Amino acid sequence: MALRLSSDCQKVTKRLPRPSKSGGMLESLIYMARNAVGRVNEMSEDIDWDSLTFSLTPTDTMYLTETSADDPWMPGSLRPYGPIPMSPAAGVINYGQGLFEGMKAFRTSKGRVVFFRPEENARRMQRGADRLKMPPVPESVFIDAVEQCVQANLKWLPPTGKGAMYVRPLLMGSGPILGVAPAPSYTFLVYVTPVGPYFKGGVNAIDLLISEEHHRAAPGGSGGVKAIGNYAPGMMPSKKAKAAGYAEVIYLDAETHSYVEEVGAANFFCVKDGVLYTPELTGTILPGITRNSVIELARHHGIKVVETKVEATFAMGADEAFCCGTAAVISPIGSITKGDVKATYGDGTPGPVTQKLYTQLVGIQNEEQEDIFGWLHEVPV
Ligand code: PLP
Ligand code: COI
Repeated sequence: MALRLSSDCQKVTKRLPRPSKSGGMLESLIYMARNAVGRVNEMSEDIDWDSLTFSLTPTDTMYLTETSADDPWMPGSLRPYGPIPMSPAAGVINYGQGLFEGMKAFRTSKGRVVFFRPEENARRMQRGADRLKMPPVPESVFIDAVEQCVQANLKWLPPTGKGAMYVRPLLMGSGPILGVAPAPSYTFLVYVTPVGPYFKGGVNAIDLLISEEHHRAAPGGSGGVKAIGNYAPGMMPSKKAKAAGYAEVIYLDAETHSYVEEVGAANFFCVKDGVLYTPELTGTILPGITRNSVIELARHHGIKVVETKVEATFAMGADEAFCCGTAAVISPIGSITKGDVKATYGDGTPGPVTQKLYTQLVGIQNEEQEDIFGWLHEVPV
């Protein structure tokens, strides 16, 4: 693979010896310590950083801790990335008792390694745990876990501006249970992978299809948390839309079939006459951390933001539209199709409001803009 590393201070680490599969505590501690100090410039030579996509590159190390339903969570340990043993009767496999999170670590222009608002991911996972009757992972355990995972896999963290390290925390009912009830024990696991743009074609405007047949979430359901079970039902509609040339589907609300809810796994925004509109959080929409950041950024820059029910017809008559999320960042929308009607936005490049918000958000994440909201969380390396 082509080697395109820009900085002369980048070096490649030798693969550190891993702890054995049985993984004694002392072995894990030594492994953790050796993986965690003074290595800010490490970068793998095996990756073409310019060709990153949003796909899985297995890394070296993951984090895992377990607890029973009644015990407190204890800090876990690092171990080699790989399969985990699980009972065939595990609650997560049988009844979908599981949550995931998605967050990113960045290598910034100031040479630091940072997370973007990781406390918000920890809190969202706690709300989800409550909804799925799982023991919530304390914020301190969550933050320690994601930090350790990034530290241990530093060489997989892309150079500034070339992508990010996607961090995937998972909380699941891993103990065996036959009746439909909470599992007797739980696993909290974190793995990481370097990623590039979520949508094919990078930052080019995407074409979306409104799903007239399927919904993502219903009132009273689990749409407002990151339950793993929310995602499989979207795969068929999404695949169909992709086969027809669209990047993703837009889901409407399940009650009236008229209001925009989400774009696959991203939140929706549109701009009309200089005002930014986004679907209000009704319980069926995931409260995106990027969504919240976009709202705060827009208000800070004097853009009026309205959180309301956004009719599909209104969205299709807007001046600009975009979707946003940890994976999607801010992705401009070039067109929305509903049945026979196709609405297009601009000339395929981001409109001025979309561009401004993108520049501000990515600028903060890369430390090219001042972090006026205190959103960055430094990972010691
Ligand atoms: N909506 C759904 C359904 C998602 O899965 C995601 C991704 O996490 C988002 C929105 C965006 O949320 P965030 O900005 O916190 O990544
Ligand atoms: C994220 O943006 O973190 C998501 O969860 C999207 C995803 C399902 C890949």
